[in-house]
Parts: sequence; C-alpha cells; structure tokens
Amino acid sequence: MSDYKFLNDSDLNDFKLKLNDLNDNLTRAGKKLVIAKSKFSKREVEKDFVNEYVNQYKNAKKRYLEGCKDERFYDNLKTAKLNLSKTSKQEENYNTILNQYKKAKLLYKGYKETVKERGFGGELNIINNTALKLNDIKFKYRENHPFAVDGVSVKIEHGNYVAIIGHNGSGKSTLSKIIIGVLEPTQGSIEVYGNKVTKGNINIIRKFLGIVFQNPDNQFIGSTVRDDIAFGLENRRVAPSKMNEIIINAAKKVNMENFLDHEPLMLSGGQKQRVAIASALALSPNILIFDEATSMLDPKGKSEVKQIMVELKNTREKTIFSITHDMDEILNADKVMVMNKGKLVRFGSPKEILSDKNFLRSIHLDIPFVAQVEEALQNVGIEVSGSENLDELVEKICQI
Ligand SMILES: Nc1ncnc2c1ncn2[C@@H]1O[C@H](COP(=O)(O)OP(=O)(O)OP(=O)(O)O)[C@@H](O)[C@H]1O
Ligand SMILES: [Mg+2]
Repeated sequence: MSDYKFLNDSDLNDFKLKLNDLNDNLTRAGKKLVIAKSKFSKREVEKDFVNEYVNQYKNAKKRYLEGCKDERFYDNLKTAKLNLSKTSKQEENYNTILNQYKKAKLLYKGYKETVKERGFGGELNIINNTALKLNDIKFKYRENHPFAVDGVSVKIEHGNYVAIIGHNGSGKSTLSKIIIGVLEPTQGSIEVYGNKVTKGNINIIRKFLGIVFQNPDNQFIGSTVRDDIAFGLENRRVAPSKMNEIIINAAKKVNMENFLDHEPLMLSGGQKQRVAIASALALSPNILIFDEATSMLDPKGKSEVKQIMVELKNTREKTIFSITHDMDEILNADKVMVMNKGKLVRFGSPKEILSDKNFLRSIHLDIPFVAQVEEALQNVGIEVSGSENLDELVEKICQI
C-alpha cells in the first residue's frame, strides 16, 4: 500500500494528449477513406486502393478504442478508496488519505470526460502558478538569417501584466508568435502553467491563450457582434445552451453589452477592439496577449481600450502580455520586458526600467511622457521622480 504511486494531473494531461493524437489520426484516416471512396465511385482507382484506406481506418479506430481503455485511473481510484476504508478518522494520516481519495476521484472523472470528448477534454490542468516559462528560446526565419529571437529566458507568474517593448524589428512579434504556437522555436523550451509545450500538445495548450491583434478590421467574421463572439465558441464546440450567457458576460466586461446586435464593421475603432477583446475573453484564456492592440486607434479609442486592459489587470484573473510602442502604457505594467536585436536586454518593474533612461535611448526607445517631464524638471533642479501617471506627477509638483 505504501509503495503505491498515485496518479497526478500530469498523468491525466498525458492521457489527454495521447487520446487527442489518436483521435487526430482517426479523423485523418476517415477523411482519406472518404476521398478514396469518392475516387473509386468516379472509377479513378481500383477497389484495392480503397481497401488499403479501409484497413488504415480500421487500424486507426482500433488504436483509438484501445487508447480509450486506460485502467490506471480506475485502479488508482480503487486503491485510494480501499486505503480510505482501512483508515479511521483518528489516525494521523487520515487527511492525507482522504485527499488522495478526493484527487483520485477527480482524476477518474477527468479520464471519463476525456474519453467522452475524444481527447479534446477541455483544458490541460494547471500544474503550477507560473503562467509562462521560456527557457533559452532562439528562433531564426531562415538558415542564413540572424536570430530574430536570441536566447530569451523569462518566468512570469500568473496574474501579472507584462509590457513587451523594443525598437522595430527587435523580435517582439516573433516572440509572441512563438508563445501562441504559430512558430516553433529553433531552440529552447516553453512551459505554460507547468505544461511543457510539444508539437503534440500545442493545440490543447492554445486553449490557455488568447490574442488581440493590431488591426481591428482583420478580426471580424460575424455579421453581428453577437455572431462574432459566438464564432470562437462554436469552434470550441461549446454547447449552444451555454453560449448566450458567455457572450453577454464577455460583452459586459468590455462595456459592449448594448451593441450585441450591431454590425461590427459599423463600430468605431475602439469599439471594434473591445469586441475583439470580448471574443478572446469568451474563450476564457488564462493568458491574453495584446500585440499593439491600441496602435491603430484614435486617442479616444486608445484610451477606451487601455481602460479595459487596466480593468482586466485589476481582476488579476488573467496573465496579460502587451506588446507596445506606447511608452506611457508601460507604467500600467507589473513587469516590463525590453527586447533589442532578439535579446531580452532588461526585465523588471517599470520603475527599474525607467531608472536608466540613457540605456533606453541607446536602444532607440522613447521614455514615457511623465518621465520626460520629470527629467526636464530634474534638469532645472526640481526633484520629482517615480510618478506612475500624470495625476501623481501633478500632485507631486503641487506639493513642492
Ligand atoms: N516572416 C519573416 N521572414 C523573415 N524575417 C522576418 C519575418 N518576420 C520578421 N522577420 C525579421 O525578424 C526580426 C524580428 O522581427 P519582429 O517582427 O519580431 O520584430 P518586432 O519587434 O515585432 O518589430 P515591430 O515593432 O516593427 O513590430 C526582424 O529582423 C525582422 O526583419
Ligand atoms: Mg511587431
């Protein structure tokens, strides 16, 4: 009994990934068979050709069904239950054994759900609180190109708001594409909430991630705001009965609940970006990436969207990355990543980053307006520093 090694979240994750793979193979084999049959019906191929695909499909189905039958989760629960029945409440280790039983029950439930959902089994589990861990990530677009991302390592805890800044071509967008799994790093590894990203699990890992791009017009598919938010949910096979509530909640978070029947293209830039944020939020990602989401907006739109980003930050429910050229925005961040020529050259709080203005200038970055004013004041002997926004600066000046 004491030697028994109980299963944990990673075992369930591995099972989900395996079943997801087997299901992918089965779907692919099914499609190939349909194509082969249609060729046969047009007399383009012989019966033997079709038989080959029938066999492949049968094999894939057999492997899939075998994959579903994983006794470990049931055995795990049985062992935990037996242990519990043998332990009285007075015993010292009762709570440990009770918790083992509760965990085993959850894992068994997760296993059954995974089988029911053919390995799409909802989310991967959160194994630790580190939203993102990059280990020495390198990437080049072509063999003879320099590294567009060159040895980036960083660890971000859940709930942080991280600004990524850097001059044009410093590797910010490349890095964000690596994080969302569009590009595969040439070297290095990525962990998302303790799950190591692999070729096999990237589609599942993506469920942790949402992204809002620069151009609001490129993000619309639906003819109404409601349809647009629904689109992602349909893709994820959310039950239609649950959709309405999710859509309304997401729209409320960006103050667009009164626009659900409007046509997206008729909205202002700021409103469009807010709908894009709602669409991302509806899928409840744990990590949200904004790739210059405010850069194409007019000042009013910019401030509307920034306001939403700050509200999202304050809930601490999401980990937020904001790639930005707007140096004023970094003052809202908990942490700032400074990129230069593919390298992460600085990582710290906004205050730490802004304390070395000459360094920022040396890599062609502006400094935020508030910091510029402070610097100008310092140059004429007025000591103000560390203001996080204009109000704070004005307050400080008034006290002099
Ligand atoms: N599709 C591509 N093919 C080849 N090289 C690319 C490609 N996309 C980007 N690069 C190169 O990779 C490097 C990093 O570019 P990236 O777009 O990541 O920078 P960025 O920091 O997002 O810049 P910007 O602020 O202009 O958006 C640059 O040298 C760029 O020329
Ligand atoms: Mg970019």
